[in-house]
This record gives sequence, structure tokens and C-alpha cells, in this order.
Amino acid sequence: MGSLPNHISEDAFELLATQSKVITCKAAVLWGPKEPFVIEEIQVEPPHKLEVRIKVICTSICHTDLSLWKGENEAQRKFPRILGHEAAGIVESVGEGVVDMKPGDHVIPIFSGECGDCKFCKSEKTNLCEKYRVDPFRSTMLGDGRTRFSVRGQPVYHFLSTSTFSEYTVLDHACVVKIDREAPLERMCLLSCGVSTGVGAVWNTAKMEAGSSVAIFGLGGVGLAVAEGARVSGASRIIGVDINPDKFIKAKAMGVTEFVNPRDYDRPVHQVIREMTEGGVDYSFECSGNYQVLRESFLSSHDGWGMTIIVGIHASPKMLPLHPMELFDGRGIIGSTFGGFKGKTQLPGLAIRCMKGEVNLEGFITHELPMSQINQAFKLLNEGKTLRCLLHVASSAVGLSG
Ligand code: APR
Ligand code: ZN
Ligand code: ZN
Repeated sequence: MGSLPNHISEDAFELLATQSKVITCKAAVLWGPKEPFVIEEIQVEPPHKLEVRIKVICTSICHTDLSLWKGENEAQRKFPRILGHEAAGIVESVGEGVVDMKPGDHVIPIFSGECGDCKFCKSEKTNLCEKYRVDPFRSTMLGDGRTRFSVRGQPVYHFLSTSTFSEYTVLDHACVVKIDREAPLERMCLLSCGVSTGVGAVWNTAKMEAGSSVAIFGLGGVGLAVAEGARVSGASRIIGVDINPDKFIKAKAMGVTEFVNPRDYDRPVHQVIREMTEGGVDYSFECSGNYQVLRESFLSSHDGWGMTIIVGIHASPKMLPLHPMELFDGRGIIGSTFGGFKGKTQLPGLAIRCMKGEVNLEGFITHELPMSQINQAFKLLNEGKTLRCLLHVASSAVGLSG
């Protein structure tokens, strides 16, 4: 091992075999909306300047992957494509100019990057980055506008700057966060999107005070991450709203204290919540991505000081369903991207809080499958039967070329 460059640890030795080479490996490729994923042998180029190539150990599936699979947004229809944005992995190699990571480092990808240099990154008021902020319409690398993946010579497009349904993926360095080596990768993948988005919406965007009352619309992975953030911050009441009553069982186990199924009532759900809470909750969180729910969520908050936080993704071209004068009632509304976290700066600390058990990650993983069964995993999410299905990604390359 004496010949290893001294900045590379010994257990990263196996990774050196692939440095600077094109890697042939397996990925779940989507050829068109609503088509089954096909496990293909793909080629992954080495990272270019300021890029990182990572070996994906595990990945989980979020509703945003499901929305793209369903083709819910016309402008995102770029195929073939590798989806996936919640994952954890190990750095295989880094491109020129990457100084904060080296082969062997344990990392999580983030779709909301942080360059550290722009006026946004330097501002404490936002977690958006001028250059690497989330862009659902981008399907190639920022550096040269090309893809790093191909299948039988045909380019395969990227998704959310992450594309984690693959044994190897290439990301901009700003979209990779180095975490503690002892952190369990098979749980840390949840910090790539769902859990960070939810707990951060409570801590960073709402800045919720202890003792507050909360309503959460949509009890999927993101909604329950909001519940976890609210529980950790000492919420007095956590009211869960969902049209699927099966969601209440898991939600109860994860700290939601009361439940409302809008279908059980012949009046709008905001009226029900206002009655339950003597005027409305202090904070309401829209985590369903449903346009109608957004208005109900807004009206469920208390006049004078209530705040609604939009966490779900609203792909429809419709405008906010509010009359401007309704804001004079003192209710506020705000969007939360990636839970307001500056990924590279703040996620390592969140990972440590999770390792200490302050934040419960266990409850979120309801299923585990190999990546080869990704179609089954999508079916489970589509049917509302899973919070997060962890996919174990086959961990070795099948060959090298180039
Ligand atoms: N009223 C209440 N709940 C609803 C409604 C509705 N009209 N419509 C859907 N829901 C519930 C679903 O039953 C489900 O439990 O919203 C929940 C959404 O959960 P998931 O599908 O598991 O999605 P999740 O991964 O939690 O993401 C939620 O955040 O990341 C974004 O794009 C994502 O918009 C989505 C949202
Ligand atoms: Zn997501
Ligand atoms: Zn920046």
C-alpha cells in the first residue's frame, strides 16, 4: 500500500482500479413515462472538472421520482433517463478541482446543491444556490451540457442532478455531502431528500416554537418527516390529515397525535381543524402536492399568526389558490425547498443528530428490496403502501473500459 497517494485511505484501494476509466455497471433505466424500469448495462464516464463519481450503496424512492415516472410534468419528458435522488454512497473518484472529497469518503447526494461561493450561499437568509439550486428541467451536467451516462452508445439523461438508480453516478461536487464515516449509509440516504425536507421545514423554515400546534396534510414520507421535526421541537399537537386512513397507523407510531380524514366530513377540512383547535393551528404543512389541499391547509392555520409551509411539489401550472386580501387576516404562507438546509454546510450535523438517536430514521423505511426489483418498489409507492422502500444497489462494477 506504500505506493498509494497519501491522501487516499487504504480501504479506498479497490476504488483506485476504476479511476479515470469509463465504468460499465448496472442501472435502472426509464425509457418513457409509465414504462417499467429496465436494468441495463450502462457506461458511466469519469467525473469532469468539479464533478464527483460515486458508487451508490443504497437508494430510496420519493414521490418526485414517482411523479416523473408518471409523466406528470410535460417539460420533464427527456428519455432514456436514470431517476433517483435519495441515496448514500462512497466516492469512487473526483474530477479536477474537487478539494473537499476523496475516494473512499462516505457521502450523500443532494439535489439542492451548495457551491459555497455565490451571494446566495453566502447569505444566511436562503439555502438556494445561484448555480446549483434544484432544477427539475435539467437533464445534463452543468459543466458541458452533456450526460455522463450512455447505453449502447445512446446518451442517458440525468435527473435532479443526482440519478441514483445506478451502481455509479456522476454529480457536481456542490451536490455531494461528505458525512461521518460511522454513519449508517442505509439510513443516511433518507437525508438526501425526504427526512431533511420534512424536519427542515419545521426547524429552518417555520422555526417552530415548542408548544405549537401543527397540522400536516399528506402523511407520506415527507409528511411524517415534518411530524418527526415537530415532535423533536416539542409540538403540543400534531394533527395528521390524509385521505388514506391506512396512513394513520404508521403515523400514530411516529408521533402524530390526532387524525382527520377529509372524506369522513361533509364540510371543508379547514373548518374541522379550526373547530378542533379553537381557531386553527399555529403551523400547517402541505405535504401532499395536491392543489386543493393547499388552500385547505392555508385556511386551517390560525388567523393573526398562523403560517402555512408548502413542502409538496405542485407541478400544475395553476396559481396560488388565495385571494390577496386573505393575507390581511394575518395568515402567512411560504415555500420550503430542501427543508431550508444548506446541504454541504448543515447536513453533516443533521447526520450526527440522527446517529445520536435525536431524530428517528428507523420508522421511515417500511420495505427493502434489491434494485433489480425497482418496479415492485414503484408499485408499492404508487399504491400508497410504503413510506420509503430502500433499494440495495448492487455494489460492484461489472467491467471496465476506456
Ligand atoms: N388530502 C390529504 N392527503 C392526500 C390527498 C388529499 N387530497 N391526496 C394525497 N394525499 C396523501 C396521500 O394519501 C399520501 O399519503 O398525501 C401523501 C403523499 O405521500 P407520498 O406519496 O408518500 O409522497 P412523499 O414522498 O411524502 O412526498 C410528498 O412532497 O416531495 C414532494 O413530490 C413530493 O409532492 C410530493 C410530496
Ligand atoms: Zn424527494
Ligand atoms: Zn452557491
